[in-house]
Amino acid sequence: SELTVLVLGSANADLVVAVERRPAGGETVLGGDTVVMPGGKGANTAVAAGKLGARVALLGAVGEDGYGSVLRTSLESAGVRTDLLRTSARPTGIAYITVTPDGENSIVVAPGANSDVSPADVDASSAALRSAAVLVCSLETPLSTVEHAVAVAARAGVRPLLNLSPVAQLSSETLAQLDPLVVNEHEAAWLLGEPTAEVNGAEDGAEVDGAEVDGADLARRLLALGPRSVVVTLGARGAVVATPQGVHQIAAPTVHAVDTTGAGDAFAGALATRLGEGDDLVPAAEYAARVAAISVTRSGAQPSYPTAEEVDG
Ligand code: RIB
Ligand code: NA
Repeated sequence: SELTVLVLGSANADLVVAVERRPAGGETVLGGDTVVMPGGKGANTAVAAGKLGARVALLGAVGEDGYGSVLRTSLESAGVRTDLLRTSARPTGIAYITVTPDGENSIVVAPGANSDVSPADVDASSAALRSAAVLVCSLETPLSTVEHAVAVAARAGVRPLLNLSPVAQLSSETLAQLDPLVVNEHEAAWLLGEPTAEVNGAEDGAEVDGAEVDGADLARRLLALGPRSVVVTLGARGAVVATPQGVHQIAAPTVHAVDTTGAGDAFAGALATRLGEGDDLVPAAEYAARVAAISVTRSGAQPSYPTAEEVDG
């Protein structure tokens, strides 16, 4: 059957440990017990969309190990189709995540099976891709695969959305197809070649180099790089949408953040869901900001994502 959203991206087991503070190089700190949760930017995005009622599939790969089964189960219980999720000879991707008391995280990803997702996999799934309204990609799968998928989508009239996380240098051809390019302020600064940006800092909501950045200015300058539209997520400060028609500030509800892991993925999944249903970018981004805000009030990525009823209620 037809899809509203096809997600091309990673599936990782998140090994999460709570720490009072992050260790410096050469230092040891003790943390809490390890908690294993389904994660990965692609799987998170797909689960967010699935919980919100999208007809969604994940194109990706996991290993032939227990973590792969955990991920399949989580996807399927959120209503995500897994027939395009391949089993690879490499181990399932693992994300080593520390979370501090302020809800901030830092992440090291061992991509494993995610590295095997190839342009040939995209071609093998092209019927499903062409049936979708929206393609969502992120960059824990190889850049060449993502660029190929964006090109196939654009040719087929499928709307390509890219969450530029983690950052990578895109070709101008890919950039020109994105509708929207989605970045947080660190990724935005990196893309704009601002040397002071700490791109691997907080996922969302933190400030670049201590100063509160002007999201509207970032979004405007990113639009000038060529994408059809841009969304800059600003964590607790909401988001900014830029299209050739103008720039719009999106407010985020005020919440108490417990764990921001995967908030950007929740935003992307919600945005894609709404765009796939025919919403305009601004109302879709308003909805996505509400979904992301709910996700940060609960631990983990996928387990923290709301259903459509929770968002509306
Ligand atoms: O964006 C959050 C995700 O990044 C985590 O679930 C982790 O798997 C890493 O990929
Ligand atoms: Na969360």
